[in-house]
Amino acid sequence: MKAVVLVGGEGTRLRPLTHHTVKAMVPILNRPFLEYLLQHLANHSVDEVILAMGYKPDSIQNHFTHAHGLPVKLVYSIEPAPLGTAGAVKYAEQYLDNTFFVLNGDVFTTIDLTAMLRFHKESGAKITIALTPVEDPTRFGVVETDNRFRIKKFIEKPPPDQVTTNNINAGVYILEKDALKNIPSGRRVMFEHDVFPELLSAGDPLYAYPTDAYWIDIGTLENYHRLNCDLLTGKCPHPDPKTVRPVPPESSFVHPQARVQGPVLIGERCRIGYGVQIIGPAVIGTGCHIEDCAIIEKSILWQHVTVGKNAILRNCIVASNSCIASNSALEGVTITPEHKTP
Ligand code: GDD
Ligand code: MG
Repeated sequence: MKAVVLVGGEGTRLRPLTHHTVKAMVPILNRPFLEYLLQHLANHSVDEVILAMGYKPDSIQNHFTHAHGLPVKLVYSIEPAPLGTAGAVKYAEQYLDNTFFVLNGDVFTTIDLTAMLRFHKESGAKITIALTPVEDPTRFGVVETDNRFRIKKFIEKPPPDQVTTNNINAGVYILEKDALKNIPSGRRVMFEHDVFPELLSAGDPLYAYPTDAYWIDIGTLENYHRLNCDLLTGKCPHPDPKTVRPVPPESSFVHPQARVQGPVLIGERCRIGYGVQIIGPAVIGTGCHIEDCAIIEKSILWQHVTVGKNAILRNCIVASNSCIASNSALEGVTITPEHKTP
């Protein structure tokens, strides 16, 4: 079975973090987000993933070209310019078989894709869209169905007065190749605005597969932070649990008088100084230096971050190569190398 993962587009709303990093490559527990998606697909019998890329593909290709032991075969489909969600899949059509998955590249979910495929086959759908309940559907695509889950209506980013259900498009689809037939080539086309509404008005069978599996769109800083914490605390099951190490690796030094409390992941080659307190859930990326008596609580540090003496970080996200000045106190902020801490 093959899958297309949409990793392109101008969807860089994870600012300021995605200034230098493609959204799909942001680190989740010190591993690029996309690796989790690939593992989840592999866990459900997907053996080939087409990465549909419309935006800065270099960092993705560099990473995966040198990666060992990938769970799936990767094919890169690089659009000349972002073609939209459906245009990107149309552009990758040559690689696809009759039935395939399509996933938004910024969605983390534990949805049972095997059961979803079974449902898709049984219903005879042309497209099956996974649905997940959310508190605020106005930021997503709202999907109305009948009581047999046949889709009646699709409204992308509806105004509050048009919200009739909390079930939204989870960004996980199963498509029959036939669904691509009327999509024009080389043009920007969106599933959400163009293809779904058109197929519905043509009377094609579009079905919904509701799920209460863990689901999050990492397209906001708050959700990005939450996913890291949920994986550490076990609120969300890890798709590859053997890769999470409960103790710091041998290459890292943790001062005997430092206190590491709660679920904390420490990367390779870190130095954690005297009197430091790290209170989980927290992630310390590769090569971070935490100087004496600093306090880090519920924060995510990417690679090669320096935290000065006595600094306090609470609920922060710190991008790679950032320096936090000694004695600074920061709460609920995102820090990049350009950021000057007081
Ligand atoms: N290759 C490619 N080319 N990928 C694209 C393009 C493009 O032109 N445009 C968007 N994408 C990718 C994005 O990188 C992202 O992974 C995915 O398609 C969805 O785009 P977003 O920009 O993140 O959309 P959204 O989150 O506002 O809304 C979408 O996802 C929601 C679920 O998270 C819609 O599909 C909603 O209906 C849905 O509810
Ligand atoms: Mg999104």
